[in-house]
Amino acid sequence: METTSARSLAVLVGDLATDRPPRYAALAGRIRRLVADGRVPLGTRLPAERQLATALAVSRATVTAAYTRLREDGWATARQGAGTFAALPAGPHRGAWVPGPADDDAIDLAHAAPAAPAAVPAALAAALEELPRFLATHGYHPAGLPDLRARIAARYTARGLPTTPEQVLVTNGALHGVSIGFAGLLRRGQRVLVEQPSYPNALQAARALGARVVPVALDPDEPAAWLDAAERTLSAVRPAAAYLMPDFQNPTGVLLDAAGRERLAGALRRGGVPAVVDETVAELGLDAAAPPPLAAFGPGLLSVGTLSKVAWGGLRVGWVRAEADVVRRLTAVAVRTSMSGPVVEQLAACALLDGLDGSLQAWREQLRERRSVLTAELRQRLPDWRVPAPAGGLVLWCGLPSLRSRAVSSGFAPLLVEPADPPLGLGSLAEPALAAVPPPLEPPVPPAAPARAAPAEPDVIWAPGRSTEQVLALVREARRQFPDRPAVVVRAPAETLVALASEHDAYTTVDAASMSAAVGPLPEPVGSIGVLCGAGGDLAVAAEAAFAARVTGTAVLRVDDVGGSRFRAGLSGDALPEDADCLVVVAGLDASLAGLLGVLTDLPIVAVPTSTGQPGSFGGFSALLTLLNSASPGVVVSNIDNGHAAGVFAARIARRSHRRG
Ligand SMILES: Cc1ncc(COP(=O)(O)O)c(C=O)c1O
Repeated sequence: METTSARSLAVLVGDLATDRPPRYAALAGRIRRLVADGRVPLGTRLPAERQLATALAVSRATVTAAYTRLREDGWATARQGAGTFAALPAGPHRGAWVPGPADDDAIDLAHAAPAAPAAVPAALAAALEELPRFLATHGYHPAGLPDLRARIAARYTARGLPTTPEQVLVTNGALHGVSIGFAGLLRRGQRVLVEQPSYPNALQAARALGARVVPVALDPDEPAAWLDAAERTLSAVRPAAAYLMPDFQNPTGVLLDAAGRERLAGALRRGGVPAVVDETVAELGLDAAAPPPLAAFGPGLLSVGTLSKVAWGGLRVGWVRAEADVVRRLTAVAVRTSMSGPVVEQLAACALLDGLDGSLQAWREQLRERRSVLTAELRQRLPDWRVPAPAGGLVLWCGLPSLRSRAVSSGFAPLLVEPADPPLGLGSLAEPALAAVPPPLEPPVPPAAPARAAPAEPDVIWAPGRSTEQVLALVREARRQFPDRPAVVVRAPAETLVALASEHDAYTTVDAASMSAAVGPLPEPVGSIGVLCGAGGDLAVAAEAAFAARVTGTAVLRVDDVGGSRFRAGLSGDALPEDADCLVVVAGLDASLAGLLGVLTDLPIVAVPTSTGQPGSFGGFSALLTLLNSASPGVVVSNIDNGHAAGVFAARIARRSHRRG
């Protein structure tokens, strides 16, 4: 466990007098930033309140209140009798992507959720005037208020897709509509084709039904390649459904033109694949209006819309547009969980739709202005970022040259935090998922090996940030505590490896490709793993995984550069070492590989996102999101660039399943 002394934390915190009072909130804010950018590593024990108060020359009550604030906000946890430890807010649930509470200090760039325009209170006032008409009835309208269905239908007709009110089901927002669409189309184990990246909550909704997500990479610089790949995947994989955003796709902003819609609808029709088409921002074209809805180009398509982005998310009014018989079936699905939408909000929605053309004009004008301010500032201040100007929608999807870029480490690192609830807790708190954080001012104190029951395999000792002497001391301690198993040292410079080999000459196994060493007797291998990697740039991480697995007690069948394109084209399982007990997939350049492999094999997969070759994105962070979004059941996702942790974990799975099998 890392600790930080009161003195060194006080240095990192700096002068609180320059911050807005109250003092305790300023202190909590400073510590929160230090945790977010990694200078106070996760799991670090914070100093005792009295000591920190002395070091900062503030009252103890100030520190107590600051720690309380940190705990309440999830940036620290308290363990009875042990102290207060740095943590990341757990967020809601894994994969859920919801706006956090408003924070005066931070601009939340993760959510495209506008504040309500003046038209919203006016519409609600108008709704209250209308309400008496409905009060004498039961108030339930499972498919939506007839007046609202008629207005939504008229809007589709005006956009080029003739629609009757019977073809409209009113929902509690777009996500509800998407979920109802999925519930109508997908069964457990079936596949759903999605763009990658995509809207995480929709993918979670598909997974909640037991569906397998099949991602097709969408590169905003090469949208045509997506169409090619989608056509191939539709015919090769034959998914049960697709989830698509042809209108200013979230998050890439890509707009599919009319010819592209023709092609896509044709491919869906030929494959007999129905689709849920999320049109959440379809009416927010800033440079040009979107072509007619995708459903105008082919049959079997459910269009989902919402007032959340053209008016206000707080209304919770959305809809699904489909054939009338499909709407009847979907209404039956909807009433399983909610009998009807609220009458007042639906009446307000009618008023908003009546004035929508006018209010949209003003809203688009504002969005154009915001887009130009934001893009100009970003281009000027962060010249090495790729800053697009999307033709519509609410999202700017920027490309970072590298997580190590000057701009990231100097200015933006505090904004980058690990996604909520990392799916695979490998216990290596000393190795944050985002590697490009500024270094601590003082080298971390080498943690003493904790006394505990003998673990199943050795801990991995990370060399970066530690001197050779510190690594040697940790290895000695590990060898003393666990003489019958090796201590594994990773990412060590050559001189540390040489020093290890000289001190423990009879016992040291060194792997040059991964700059790693194992000191001690290697265990008899039980079971085996296969290591696959999608591209040459990831070979070092693949070597790390192979090494860690071998020295922690399993055989390694092969390290293979399988080439993402080969997999994509063939979608064949021939190259898989099916006699392995577990696969490690290192997939930076081709992050969706793990998802595809998950479809092809029942073997458990440990996927490692990497930051190599990710120039147009948040480096490994983007690969991590890709994997989280695309992982099938049976795929677990490791930390970014952490081949060793993946190797240890895969070896554990392999040994267990080999013994069982
Ligand atoms: C693509 C997409 N679909 C659905 C939603 C959810 O919309 P609603 O608030 O209408 O449920 C969002 C919200 O950001 C979104 O971006």
